[in-house]
Formats: sequence, C-alpha cells, structure tokens
Amino acid sequence: MKKKGIILLVILVIAVVAFLVFGLPYIQRHFNEVNVSADNAAVTASAEDAVDGTGKTDTITVYFTRVGNSNFEKDVDAVASASLMTTGNELVGNSAFIAGTIRNKVGGDIYSIKTVKQYPSSYSDTVSVASDELKNKEVVKLKGQLPDMSKYKTVYLVLPIWWGTIPNAVGEFIKNSDMDGAVIYTVISHGGSEEGSCVEDIKKLTKGKVSDNFLTVYDRDTTECKEIVEDWLKEAK
Ligand SMILES: Cc1cc2nc3c(=O)[nH]c(=O)nc-3n(C[C@H](O)[C@H](O)[C@H](O)COP(=O)(O)O)c2cc1C
Repeated sequence: MKKKGIILLVILVIAVVAFLVFGLPYIQRHFNEVNVSADNAAVTASAEDAVDGTGKTDTITVYFTRVGNSNFEKDVDAVASASLMTTGNELVGNSAFIAGTIRNKVGGDIYSIKTVKQYPSSYSDTVSVASDELKNKEVVKLKGQLPDMSKYKTVYLVLPIWWGTIPNAVGEFIKNSDMDGAVIYTVISHGGSEEGSCVEDIKKLTKGKVSDNFLTVYDRDTTECKEIVEDWLKEAK
C-alpha cells in the first residue's frame, strides 16, 4: 500500500514537472507581450484603410490581422490577449508587422483587409468564432471599397493561418479581387502549424499565379523576422 502511494507520488511529481517545462510555455505561446520598434510598425499604423492611391506602383502588400478587426478595449491587456504586440500605445498584429516590414522594403501600396463584423477580444473566443465561420462557410462581409487589384503585377499577401487554412475574410478578399495578371507571394503567420493548406486554398480562389515560394513566420518570432523576410524578398519578386 505504502509502495503504491510512493509510486503515485512520483508519477504526480513527474507530471507536474512535465507540465511546467513543456505544457505551460505551450499554453502561454500566444500570451507574450512584446514592444516593437515604432519604425517597423509605422507603415502599418498609417495603413488603416486603404492603398496610398498614387496609381504609380504595380506592387501592393495586402494583409489581414486580428488587430483592427477585433473589439479590443482601449486599455487592452496585451499579455492576456493572444499574440498582440504594442508599440507605445499602439496595438500591432503579427501579420500587420510582417506586412509593414515587406512594405518598408519593397515600397508600393499597402492595404489592410477589414471586416464589417468585429471579432471578440478574447483569443479563445475568436478561435471559436472562426471555427463556426469555417463550418458554416460563412461569407464574411468586408468593410469599405476594395482596391482595384487588376492594376498590380506583384501582390504580397500576408495572413494568419486560422484552423489550418486562410481566414474566411481573406477568402472573400481574394474571391472579389481581379488578380489574374498578378504573381501572388504569400506569407503565413502561424502558431506552430506552418502553412497548412493556405497556399493550396488560395490557388483555388484566384486566377493569379500563386507562387510556391511562400514564407511562414512563427508568431513568437515575428519581431525578429526582418532579416528572414528581407532574404525571402530577394527571391520573391
Ligand atoms: C481563429 C484562430 C485560429 C488559429 N489557427 C491556427 C492554426 O490552425 N495553426 C497555427 O499554427 N496557428 C493558428 N492560430 C495562431 C495564429 O495564426 C497566429 O498567432 C498568428 O500569428 C496571428 O496573426 P495576427 O496577429 O496577425 O492575427 C490561430 C489563431 C486564431 C485567432
């Protein structure tokens, strides 16, 4: 009896240690507050609604991110709200940060996909909402007028992977955009699963040439992704 108790205690201790070493960091992977440099975030912050509209460029960076499409309280706690970064008082989504990095390098226009509906501020609630969207094949309405995508030859499309695929909002953007004459370079921001079926799913929705030279960025590595993104851009153009 005593021996059984000791064995149980040992198993319990091992389980607790395993949880602290492996489980906790995994659970907390979306709960990291990071201060990002204002230089990198500046481009995204000014890209609130639309392209810069000069009409002089054939390159555009399009992105979708939770920030700007979610009901974050003004004093949102970035620590408790998955994968948010702050620069000063500004919230920056991972995909927005990557899009800003690309745009800083290649220039051109930038466009942020915005949804009419707002996602919940809670990460796990957003995960549930997105699951329903996928199951119900929900047509997620987009806010504002979409840019005339037919004038661009190069499109950088930056998105978070949601449930192994592209968010429905991104699907709506692609379906309603004439990118027939464009090469589309995809960047997938992810929490560990890499690209899933994103690239293949984008190919199904557009007549544009979707390059197989895509890039994946792990969400926790976002703030250190500048060099990787810039290296990738040397080939992706
Ligand atoms: C609704 C939802 C579903 C997600 N599904 C996945 C997934 O299938 N695989 C994965 O690796 N990460 C997944 N993630 C994590 C995000 O892709 C990742 O944190 C990303 O960097 C978020 O980008 P954002 O800050 O631009 O929104 C999911 C996040 C959300 C909110």
